[in-house]
Amino acid sequence: MELKDKIDKENLPKHIAVIMDGNGRWAQKKGNQRIFGHKNGVKAVRDTVEGAAELGIQFLTLYAFSTENWGRPKKEIDALMSLLISTINSETDTLIKNNVRLLTIGDIDGLPVTVKKNLKELIEKTSQNTGLTLILALNYSARWEIVNAVKQIVADNKNEPIDVDEINNEFFEKYLNTADIPDPDLLIRTSGEYRISNFLIWQIAYSELYFTEVLWPDFRRSDLHEAIVDFQRRERRFGKISEQVKKN
Ligand code: FPP
Repeated sequence: MELKDKIDKENLPKHIAVIMDGNGRWAQKKGNQRIFGHKNGVKAVRDTVEGAAELGIQFLTLYAFSTENWGRPKKEIDALMSLLISTINSETDTLIKNNVRLLTIGDIDGLPVTVKKNLKELIEKTSQNTGLTLILALNYSARWEIVNAVKQIVADNKNEPIDVDEINNEFFEKYLNTADIPDPDLLIRTSGEYRISNFLIWQIAYSELYFTEVLWPDFRRSDLHEAIVDFQRRERRFGKISEQVKKN
């Protein structure tokens, strides 16, 4: 029996988020430059997106470039931006063919003009697609997102004081980049690192966390299947006790 056949289609995670890690180490292990790892990381992105779409996953968020990644050597940043542009262009037809809708989260205004332009075009071209929603986190960090939300709340309520009782989770979530996107059910991190790295801190409050030693360029849909099978073995209690959850 293949791993994929072990997946219960009735209990799929609606939203999977992925911290794609280990590109640099993968390349260095092979005696290559770090960017070779990023290039091969695109193959993993392609297979994971296809694998998620094929299963009927509704949302897939990939952490592609963090706010902190600007601190990397300029050569690597430039290569990552070029890779992003070439991937957007080479994958356009496949995304459309597979009914994938593209969205982004993060401070998109802070990205190079060409990246912004290409992203905007692809988002428009795929906006009517009804299958998987692929969300690229670009120039993203959770603390930036939360601070940005607070700034917007203050700006929106400049003229009259906000009613404190109006502020609750639902109110706040509307100001996050992920407004209208369900919280991730499953968060995957590759490369054997056990960290969240400023990713979706608010949204993963009740996500199941899955860590694998696999380096991102080696990650394939079979690894995604393994993570989902593991997820389906878990009991999600959301703060309640086991007996209460089993009743529902
Ligand atoms: C982490 O590995 C990976 C990144 C910071 C970039 C991810 C980018 C891609 C997979 C390619 C482009 C993406 C898309 C969506 C087209 P690392 O460099 O931190 O690896 P290390 O921890 O081994 O150094």
